[in-house]
Amino acid sequence: MRKPFIAGNWKMNNTRAAARELVAALKPLVADVKDVEIAVAPTFTCLQDVSELIKGSNIELSAQNISYAASGAYTGEISADMLKDVGCTHAIIGHSERRQYFGETDEGVAKRVRAALDNGIIPIVCVGESLAERESGKTFDVVLRQIVNGLSSVKNDEAARVVVAYEPVWAIGTGKTATPDQAQEVHAAIRAKLAEIFGADNAEAMRIQYGGSVKASNAKELLGQKDIDGALVGGASLKAADFAEIIKAAR
Ligand code: PGA
Repeated sequence: MRKPFIAGNWKMNNTRAAARELVAALKPLVADVKDVEIAVAPTFTCLQDVSELIKGSNIELSAQNISYAASGAYTGEISADMLKDVGCTHAIIGHSERRQYFGETDEGVAKRVRAALDNGIIPIVCVGESLAERESGKTFDVVLRQIVNGLSSVKNDEAARVVVAYEPVWAIGTGKTATPDQAQEVHAAIRAKLAEIFGADNAEAMRIQYGGSVKASNAKELLGQKDIDGALVGGASLKAADFAEIIKAAR
């Protein structure tokens, strides 16, 4: 059985004080949740604060990106070592906003995934098609290409640790959610591809989150789909009560 995994992607929101407030409010709301894995992904400047507050709790810490390099002349990048140093256990990699605005490529994703796995950090690898790609019937081509190329650095015995997040770009921050059927269809195709690459047993163990306008009101139906093993939540993770409701919908 795959343990559901709900992660909150705070994106470029919250100063340190606001981040502390948010996580302090979240903690008691989810303290009794044991059957769902929970993570929050604050901005780099808030990681240390949040890390201190979640110590001993059931909330894990994720970065929103990770460098592929170990150290050196990479201005603006943060290494796996630095993330571990502040208590990160996870890193989001290849988010569509990184791909769209900052030139992230599948090749870069594969290198970042490698750096994460080499350092014991669990990668949350994002894939998803744009509206134009969906409308021109390219959804599966795009998403499965991102899977094949983005996970090309993963060895078979590492695969079960990798988390995939399917996030249709047209559903992110737009209030438009994929219907549970639309999402399940892509999740099933992703799992079939993972089975081709890593073998059936590994594919069965890998978690595939859905992301894109997940909220308390649609979470249960989405999470009830066979191949949807959790959610990567943006906007709704910025309110403790909303995020806690989504987490509880995964039980
Ligand atoms: P959203 O963002 O929930 O605000 O649509 C999801 C994401 O981009 O991870």
